[in-house]
Amino acid sequence: MFSSEVYVNRRRTLVERMAAQGAHGIAVFLGNVDAAANYRGNDYKFRQDSNFLYYWGIDEPWFAAVLDLESAGECLYGNDVDIDDIIWMGPQPSVASKGEAIGCAKTLPLAEFDKAVIAAVAAGRPVHFLPPARYYNQMKLAELTGRANAAVRKVAPVAAGGASEELVKAVVSMRLIKEECEIEELDKAAEIGYLMHTEARRGCKPGVLEQEIVGRMEGVTYSKGWGPSFTTILSQNGETLHNHSHHQIITPGRLLVVDAGAESNTHYASDFTRTYPCSGKFTTRQREIYDIVEQANELAFSLTRPGTSYWDVHCATVRYMLEQLKALDFVRGDVDEMVACGISGLFMPHGLGHNMGMDVHDMEDLGENYVGYGDERQRSPLLGMGNLRMARDLKPGHVISDEPGIYFIPALIEQWKREGTDKGFVNYPKLEGYYDFGGIRLEDDVLVTADGARRLGPCRLPIKSSDIEEIMAQE
Ligand code: GLY
Ligand code: MN
Repeated sequence: MFSSEVYVNRRRTLVERMAAQGAHGIAVFLGNVDAAANYRGNDYKFRQDSNFLYYWGIDEPWFAAVLDLESAGECLYGNDVDIDDIIWMGPQPSVASKGEAIGCAKTLPLAEFDKAVIAAVAAGRPVHFLPPARYYNQMKLAELTGRANAAVRKVAPVAAGGASEELVKAVVSMRLIKEECEIEELDKAAEIGYLMHTEARRGCKPGVLEQEIVGRMEGVTYSKGWGPSFTTILSQNGETLHNHSHHQIITPGRLLVVDAGAESNTHYASDFTRTYPCSGKFTTRQREIYDIVEQANELAFSLTRPGTSYWDVHCATVRYMLEQLKALDFVRGDVDEMVACGISGLFMPHGLGHNMGMDVHDMEDLGENYVGYGDERQRSPLLGMGNLRMARDLKPGHVISDEPGIYFIPALIEQWKREGTDKGFVNYPKLEGYYDFGGIRLEDDVLVTADGARRLGPCRLPIKSSDIEEIMAQE
């Protein structure tokens, strides 16, 4: 938890940003509750709602809060423990002392939260809330506001009665720009991610079960922080972008994609990807593709600075990749036309990167377009370009991933061939020889600074193909 001033300032700024949009009424925040795996008493590991953490700091279940946008009054709601809780959990600090730690003087039992929201609705006051990520909170909001479940998830101006667009915009504007104390935590998460990936690289040896590597690398995240920041992606079938099955044996000649990150104890995330040759040495055709992706990662980083947009960085990066793929005869024709037609989507069906913070895809619960696009630009309908999660003009304090990749996805290639999606640019006979290639992705986490950018973490994971081979030989 940060100092109480951090939370007080954030709530004050939020009230100001809501006032700037002419918003009235109250803003309500629901923390997450325990979620049973199969029965109460054996819950999933608790993870607080990130918006609640950001404004109210409390990393425990069964809390809620109300901010009065007109008087700036505020109240934290939660229950003090009773003797039953003390028997199972031990004595706990009072709710009042938890309120004090975040600079909130008024606290009340949780049942009072329900009454406060019902009373505000009855009085006709606007009730602003964020689209709930969890089903329990969705039902709770529907019950308290008297609206349908689906309605409370839909973001629109508050007058429409669903989740509040005004509140979403105000929260996004704040969480997008990281404070110094957050950057320190992101650096810590990146350091754990570095150690995690080092364990993975060392484990990448012929004969080892992929699952063993995952277990060892996730162990690092639990010993140094909160745990993985998302389900680890580790597979020799890297052409499946989010491959979560780890049942294969590391086999010489294949490539291993490792996309994983750690969460610091304060819940800031890292997210790195490296791709390793399972034999310790790249084949000629692996190295050709690897070096394109590595240079694309470098190019994207060099272009990342205030005054440009991540949309433009994405376009410049895929343009570079298409030029290189043309030199290898995978595609033929004019590269600018290929970019315009979205041909890069065949090789990289995802975007160059996403916002990062407390969530690895930061604030995706609030709506990707609100977070990554705002009013600045419209999302593209093209595969790849349309999957870009962050397209905004870059500003100091933005934290984004830089993760180009090239994949050979047989089903996608076959579909494009059948449907003529490539408009004649793709050399299919060449591609057919790559159906067993897999994929390559290389990802770093980047902070936009006042005059450029820096990669997060104390040191960068080895990435050049020659450095990878050298370090794998040593290890
Ligand atoms: N690292 C997984 C993702 O960005 O989707
Ligand atoms: Mn990522």
